[in-house]
Amino acid sequence: MTGVVAYYTRTGKTRFVAQRLAKALGCRALEISDLKKRMGLIAYLKAARDARGKKRTEIEPKTIDTTGCDLICLGTPVWWSNPTPAMMTLLDNLDVKGKDVVIFGTADRSPERTIDILRKRVEEKGGTIVESFFCLKGSDEERMKVVEDFVDRFRKQSRLHF
Ligand SMILES: Cc1cc2nc3c(=O)[nH]c(=O)nc-3n(C[C@H](O)[C@H](O)[C@H](O)COP(=O)(O)O)c2cc1C
Repeated sequence: MTGVVAYYTRTGKTRFVAQRLAKALGCRALEISDLKKRMGLIAYLKAARDARGKKRTEIEPKTIDTTGCDLICLGTPVWWSNPTPAMMTLLDNLDVKGKDVVIFGTADRSPERTIDILRKRVEEKGGTIVESFFCLKGSDEERMKVVEDFVDRFRKQSRLHF
């Protein structure tokens, strides 16, 4: 199986999950940077407003090459019940047509709305969400356990070999 894990993180929790997921699946992990300042109180408030308004942002890299990928895993924190502007921008630029996509991320509370928004966008672009999982508030050990449980579950149901 050839896969890729692409993620955005502001404070590192989604990076932790993405790196463990990539290791378990045996594929590469790629971090997407948001070129807009996102640290500090004012930036926090603007981040929430941008996410709520479905704003796009400047990211680096602008996209990733998904040629030959059987599986694309997209990771984001939840911001004001929405995916981050960085993830929405990546998705605008990403070729997911005909691809299996896993959505994952971290949040303090329920991620359902964020998953729905990402599902809709992936489907608009011709991809299929095959699974999703989110780690809610907790320790690195708890996040690790969520990743392990997901990978076990996914390995049993997926037609891909990893
Ligand atoms: C601007 C902003 C808005 C947020 N809004 C939500 C929210 O609506 N729901 C939620 O569960 N968590 C919310 N959070 C918390 C983050 O989703 C959570 O802390 C996440 O694990 C951070 O991931 P990271 O370390 O990868 O950046 C918000 C965080 C920020 C910075």
